[in-house]
Amino acid sequence: MPQNIIECKNLYKEFKQGNKIIKVLNDINLSVKAGEQIAIIGSSGVGKSTLLQLLGGLDDASAGEVIIYGSNLKNLNQKEKGDLRNKYLGFVYQFHHLLNEFTALENVAMPLLIAGHPPKHCKQKAKELLKQVFLADRVEHKPTQLSGGERQRVAIARALICRPACILADEATGNLDEKTALDIMELLFDLNKKHQTAGIFVTHDKNIACKMQRQLLIKNATLIEN
Ligand SMILES: Nc1ncnc2c1ncn2[C@@H]1O[C@H](COP(=O)(O)OP(=O)(O)O)[C@@H](O)[C@H]1O
Ligand SMILES: [Mg+2]
Repeated sequence: MPQNIIECKNLYKEFKQGNKIIKVLNDINLSVKAGEQIAIIGSSGVGKSTLLQLLGGLDDASAGEVIIYGSNLKNLNQKEKGDLRNKYLGFVYQFHHLLNEFTALENVAMPLLIAGHPPKHCKQKAKELLKQVFLADRVEHKPTQLSGGERQRVAIARALICRPACILADEATGNLDEKTALDIMELLFDLNKKHQTAGIFVTHDKNIACKMQRQLLIKNATLIEN
């Protein structure tokens, strides 16, 4: 295992909007160690989602480097980046992005199936994970038949099924009530601890951020460690 699960060096990102250039992130340096839980906080529009996209290899930096599990994204093509993501990272978004025509079990099993594991094994693993997020009695439910909190727990189970080294979550509980949000984050922390999974959590919920080992604030395009 490399020393850092995800690392970025002198990361710089700008967007071109017509003839205007918006500098969003400037000279960002960060190392995420195995099992570490990190909160990324900051006002709306400062670049939290942008940073997460870059760290997850979903968008390209304007300059600087991102290294995932020892591989520098600079040296990889799109397919290799995709493989790296599937192997080492799990994503959870504010909106669950579950597939409505599939059951909870099928949704959770999907990434493992895509990774080429036998269907029986995938189903078994998906069942285990749904149990771990306390949805053992909801396996045959479709997303529309679940509550918002339950859907988010299915999304978490799906993010964990390939045993990622790091979970990247962007306002994962942003559309849930305060109590449900905290319960779900505590569940995610417990699971991460159990599986030694690192986590990078974009959140504007102070109650959630303060539970993590590190809080990083984005301000004026730079990262400030609290
Ligand atoms: N694809 C894009 N094209 C142009 N500007 C963008 C794009 N994505 C984000 N931005 C701009 O970058 C800034 C940071 O956005 P974002 O990372 O989504 O902020 P946050 O997640 O902190 O609310 C915002 O000013 C936003 O308008
Ligand atoms: Mg955002």
